Amino acid sequence: MDLAIIGSGYVGLVTGACFADVGHNVICVDNDPAKLEALQSGKVPIYEPGLEEVIHRNVSTHRLRFSGNIEEAVDKSQIIFIAVPTPQKPNGDADLSYIEKVAREIAGVLHSYRVIVDKSTVPVKTGEKVAESIKRYNKHNAEFDVVSNPEFLREGCAVRDLMQPDRIVIGAQSERAIALMKQVYEPFMAPILVTDINSAELIKHAANSFLALKISYINALSAICEASGADVEKVADGIGTDKRIGRSFLNAGIGYGGSCFPKDVAAFITISEQLGVPFTLLKEVQRINAEQKDRFLKVIRDTLWVLREKKIAIWGLTFKPDTDDIRSSVAIDLVADMLREGAQVCAYDPKGMEKARMIKAIADATFVNSALEAVEDAEALIIATEWEEFANVDLAVVKEKMRTAIVFDGRNLFDPKTMAQLGFRYHSIGRAAVSPA
Ligand SMILES: NC(=O)c1ccc[n+]([C@@H]2O[C@H](COP(=O)([O-])OP(=O)(O)OC[C@H]3O[C@@H](n4cnc5c(N)ncnc54)[C@H](O)[C@@H]3O)[C@@H](O)[C@H]2O)c1
Repeated sequence: MDLAIIGSGYVGLVTGACFADVGHNVICVDNDPAKLEALQSGKVPIYEPGLEEVIHRNVSTHRLRFSGNIEEAVDKSQIIFIAVPTPQKPNGDADLSYIEKVAREIAGVLHSYRVIVDKSTVPVKTGEKVAESIKRYNKHNAEFDVVSNPEFLREGCAVRDLMQPDRIVIGAQSERAIALMKQVYEPFMAPILVTDINSAELIKHAANSFLALKISYINALSAICEASGADVEKVADGIGTDKRIGRSFLNAGIGYGGSCFPKDVAAFITISEQLGVPFTLLKEVQRINAEQKDRFLKVIRDTLWVLREKKIAIWGLTFKPDTDDIRSSVAIDLVADMLREGAQVCAYDPKGMEKARMIKAIADATFVNSALEAVEDAEALIIATEWEEFANVDLAVVKEKMRTAIVFDGRNLFDPKTMAQLGFRYHSIGRAAVSPA
């Protein structure tokens, strides 16, 4: 099929590349000249495992191309996917101005029947607004259908999630649009759930909020474990092996971040309030998430006493491993917190350094080229992101390099007993702190 994707970021670019990989002809559109230039010259502006290969493979067979021309994309495609940002406004609302702009732009160049699909995460009833908007600016009175097709990919394994999705949700009211959407997804051989548009939109916010809730649940449990001497990892295994609960998203840590959970939970709270049915449970999810980082900071302060002029190493800047995405990353907040207290921060991340260097709030940090370089002469090490690379570092060498061997592990990467045996003072989440054996 001939498809267009408007917005070539973490979602649009991966979606476009994977659609091309199963045989569709795809035009990925973006209005960021630097991003477009990079893509057109063969560079991939984001890091996502396996993405570069898929892009290069499909560009070389001409099934995938990049353009800044929305008119050409709309003209040449049967279906137009919208994958532009829906960031959080100061009041928690989702900012839908990017979606509205694209809807207007599409409407202005619509000449014959097209399916316009919203892939961005949007509040329930946005589909109705998009349809109204297109109708209003539909210069040539062309036929169209609006569909909601939320995206569930996880950064860090987005290509795999796109190629082997758990399910595809299609929210639509026209049989013609449903048939075309099923054709797009046929090669993926995944279960397809067809719903009305409002339900599809709600599914996405409900799914992300539930996952955030699961994280906050285990994080709240981690505080109880610390107070009672239990081990949160054992508790998570004990409840997670119950199939009704499941082990995933039960990893205690310093809280969720990233471009989705914080904003989507906030948006869902606002939506529920606007609908007159406040979802207060989600406010508790937010509170626990914020408190988790504060509890971690308190342990750091209680242990190190004064942070001023101390050299603190930080491993990890991205909001999760296997991505270069630092948006709303708790790791970045931690670096800023340490700098604010006068510490000398030496940070390292396998993929997030380039983007982190651009963040003003952490401009005073020193960015180094390896995990071992970061701990040189450090008085403490903070582990903020659970990269595999960190799990494989030779801890004896780390111990040797540090001035004082104190580790604050915000992601429970190591076994406390081993750390004590190696001579570290080791603090983690929801497990007893240990001192050198
Ligand atoms: N990142 C994720 O893991 C993820 C997962 C599921 C859903 N989502 C949702 O998908 C949407 C996109 O997220 P993202 O992470 O890909 O954002 P992103 O910022 O990485 O990408 C958005 C892209 O849209 C482009 N853009 C903005 N306005 C445009 C316009 N008028 N015309 C053409 N291009 C335009 C931007 O330049 C950017 O490249 C959001 O609603 C997000 O909540 C994200």
